[in-house]
Amino acid sequence: MSNPAPLPTEQLIVNGVSFSHDDFHQVVEDFYGRVQQDAELSIPFLSVHDWPDHIRRLTHFWWIRFGGRPYMFAEYNPVAKHYYAGFNANLLERWLGLFEATLTDRLQPDQAALWIMIAKRIGFALTAKDEAFRHAMENKS
Ligand code: HEM
Repeated sequence: MSNPAPLPTEQLIVNGVSFSHDDFHQVVEDFYGRVQQDAELSIPFLSVHDWPDHIRRLTHFWWIRFGGRPYMFAEYNPVAKHYYAGFNANLLERWLGLFEATLTDRLQPDQAALWIMIAKRIGFALTAKDEAFRHAMENKS
């Protein structure tokens, strides 16, 4: 049985900085609106056909990543998905730049600073995992 979805005002506190569930939702929705308008990032994201579902999944991803209670069934398989989406260092830099701009526009400076630091850390880890996945795929045949 899954937990009920949090109210938009439900708060999480990370390193002394608080975020409401609505902060996650607003940032994710705004960010993927920008991604769809972006000349380079929009291309890998053509694989997304159900944007409301993507936004729900990614809002939940960030909520649980920041320590919130899971409230929907969502299994994430980011390494394989990013590999097949054509993830690379240039796209990551662009992704992070657009994400930082969204955070700065939407949130308080302390919230934006903490979140971009965590996103960069995930991006760095994803780069290493993407390389390992690529090697495994190339050595398969
Ligand atoms: C720190 C940077 C990033 C984070 C934290 C992140 C996070 C995620 C997560 C959690 C998902 C859902 C995965 C799943 O459903 O299993 C996802 C999906 C996706 N990401 Fe990223 N991502 C990042 C950067 C990028 C970049 C640079 C690209 C460009 C190729 C990208 C392209 C995609 C695409 C196309 C999907 C949808 C895959 C699908 O559902 O078919 N992401 N991302």
